[in-house]
Amino acid sequence: MEECRILVLNGPNLNLLGTRDPEHYGLETLDSIVDRLKERASVRGAVITHFQSNHEGELIEALHEAAGWADGIIINPAAYTHYSYAIRDALQAAGLPAVEVHLSDISDREPWRRESVTEDLCISQISGKKGEGYLEALDLLLDHLAELP
Ligand code: DQA
Repeated sequence: MEECRILVLNGPNLNLLGTRDPEHYGLETLDSIVDRLKERASVRGAVITHFQSNHEGELIEALHEAAGWADGIIINPAAYTHYSYAIRDALQAAGLPAVEVHLSDISDREPWRRESVTEDLCISQISGKKGEGYLEALDLLLDHLAELP
């Protein structure tokens, strides 16, 4: 397979990683996570395009565009995970293999965080592994893409 192009999409407030609620999200910044992802991707012959937004419409538009260029998606919709059917619809319309990531363990927090409206569209959900979860998601997605005919 040619070089895989992966969209990494991060939702609202994830630009605050490093200072925001370290107990749940760790101390690593988003830039550091993206640097580590890019490094791992280059070793595996893949390329990462990262986009973070605090605006639902921008995330939706990034998903629309991804349908035209990406091979797969790593998505942390942040709070939109729990209620945005608009992001769910856009992810479904993109029609690409996707892995959902959460830094915190959403199954072990407030009840409203346990629900994900996007999880069933994804090949896997990785939750509670902080920044490491994104690297695991990348490996999983690239393994999945490598097995496609
Ligand atoms: C999050 C979990 C969400 O409930 C929360 O709103 C976030 C981050 C996570 O990565 O653990 O912003 O998606």
